[in-house]
Amino acid sequence: MKTSSEHRFIGREPFEAALRAGECAPSVYGTRPWTISDTGGRISLRADPDRRLAAADPGSRELVISCGAALYNVRLALRAHGVRPRVALLPDPERPALLAEVRADGPAEPGVLERLLYGAVERRRTHRGTFLSDVGDVRLMRALSAAAAAEGAVLHLLTDDSAVRSLAGLVTAAEHLQRGERTRGEELARWVRPPGGPPGAGVRAEDFPPSEGAAETPFPGRDYGRGGVRGLLAPSGQATGTVAVLTTAEDGRPAHLAAGQALQRVLLTAAAGGVSAAFHTQPLEEPLLRAFLGERLCRGAHPQMVLRLGRTRPPERAQQDALQNALAGF
Ligand SMILES: Cc1cc2nc3c(=O)[nH]c(=O)nc-3n(C[C@H](O)[C@H](O)[C@H](O)COP(=O)(O)O)c2cc1C
Repeated sequence: MKTSSEHRFIGREPFEAALRAGECAPSVYGTRPWTISDTGGRISLRADPDRRLAAADPGSRELVISCGAALYNVRLALRAHGVRPRVALLPDPERPALLAEVRADGPAEPGVLERLLYGAVERRRTHRGTFLSDVGDVRLMRALSAAAAAEGAVLHLLTDDSAVRSLAGLVTAAEHLQRGERTRGEELARWVRPPGGPPGAGVRAEDFPPSEGAAETPFPGRDYGRGGVRGLLAPSGQATGTVAVLTTAEDGRPAHLAAGQALQRVLLTAAAGGVSAAFHTQPLEEPLLRAFLGERLCRGAHPQMVLRLGRTRPPERAQQDALQNALAGF
């Protein structure tokens, strides 16, 4: 690779770290539907249309959200390495797959929170199953909402029991409808990676509870085990967790990119505080249910993600102190 002025002045490390961080982002079915490349200090993020889920995500909404999450990791890694990123979203209408270009915009000392979030990039994992407890920390809850807002989205934390039950009903309805669809089932099975297989794209069998014998929670998970693949039971208590819907005011590609960046900022803030997230996007893949959810539970905004947030183990003192220090302003 030729040495550009950015590489000469800044060094390669921030850009290499950004590419590595991008690959750690969550993605629908673990498809990693992106290519992230560095050409002489200009990072390009492209959607990979071959990884679109034709049955589950025909409009590529979840594909673009996944790419947005990768974009947030790229930006964060540059910041954590002392580089201020300059992002051009959808820079070329002639090339719609080119979702973003990121360049260096001069040096910038990373803040405490940025370092903390960057430290969670590789550690963060999707949780499936019940939680030991809810988020249970008002300052962290405020920080989660602020993380979404900073990226142009809103995190609706559902505090009302009847709203949580209604949402659980929508997730259950969508999951049961989708379990009956053959093409969707075949598509899902293609992305389940068998136990002990090589690392790569897809949902790892170890990451979801076995379908038989697992207690039905009010928020059923996707049936990743349909192909007969068994996973391990998630560490479990009995808490549903703090239920949230991430929304945007608009819909369409720029909004989906914003939702992805907001999602990842929320997830890393949560991870920094010892909180994991479970996703339940099944009702958002059914246009009528998605519209209903937006209108009735999200004040007319466009729902982009359904999350449960909670703890799988008791909070660690050192982790809490570091986070409280970083959240001093919240
Ligand atoms: C847009 C989007 C939708 C997702 N929907 C679900 C879901 O409905 N159920 C689920 O268990 N995981 C869901 N996930 C999580 C992915 O399966 C997970 O990110 C992927 O398997 C990689 O694993 P990791 O997050 O542990 O790195 C979703 C992720 C994204 C970005």
